[in-house]
Amino acid sequence: MRLAAEGGFAGAVLDAGCGTGENALHVASLGWSVLGVDVAETALAIARAKADDRGIEVEFATADAFQLERLGRRFETVLDCGLFHTFDGDERPGYVASLASVTEHDGTLYVLCFSDDGPDTGPHPISQQELRAAFNPSNGWSVAAIEPDRVQTRDHHDGAPAWFATIKRI
Ligand SMILES: C[S@@+](CC[C@H](N)C(=O)[O-])C[C@H]1O[C@@H](n2cnc3c(N)ncnc32)[C@H](O)[C@@H]1O
Repeated sequence: MRLAAEGGFAGAVLDAGCGTGENALHVASLGWSVLGVDVAETALAIARAKADDRGIEVEFATADAFQLERLGRRFETVLDCGLFHTFDGDERPGYVASLASVTEHDGTLYVLCFSDDGPDTGPHPISQQELRAAFNPSNGWSVAAIEPDRVQTRDHHDGAPAWFATIKRI
């Protein structure tokens, strides 16, 4: 995930669907307090081993992105790198509500997802309109920016087309 937004980070950071933790580890290495969550225990074990090897203080926990309220915590900054685009349209409202339950008002969500702006799009391309429909004032969000980006995949030499969205919790 391109973290040009790092300078704008504030408070505690949640990395939703952290996988093996590269983004969480990077952000934690910059001094932020970071919790990475995932449903995949094997990925979390790798993430914890990396943290130990690198001497980085960071927390990893098992959690379902659809039930983040169960964490009982709130975050000023939330990262989603490659998770939103894995969910079908009918799953998005539940995920977006779950994100809202743990994001402080005026906090910021950063989403990096496959875009439909080809050529050579990723497997679950998302349009800007879909992002704006999923995150809107009626469900507590305001899209601040959607910028073209790239996301690394095994199948794309130079990454696949992506959107990097900055979304405010209102
Ligand atoms: C494409 S990977 C991205 C991993 C990481 N964010 C990165 O950028 O390398 C998507 C991750 O989301 C996790 N995931 C999928 N569904 C989830 C859910 N319902 N709750 C939490 N994590 C989930 C997967 O286990 C996987 O680690």
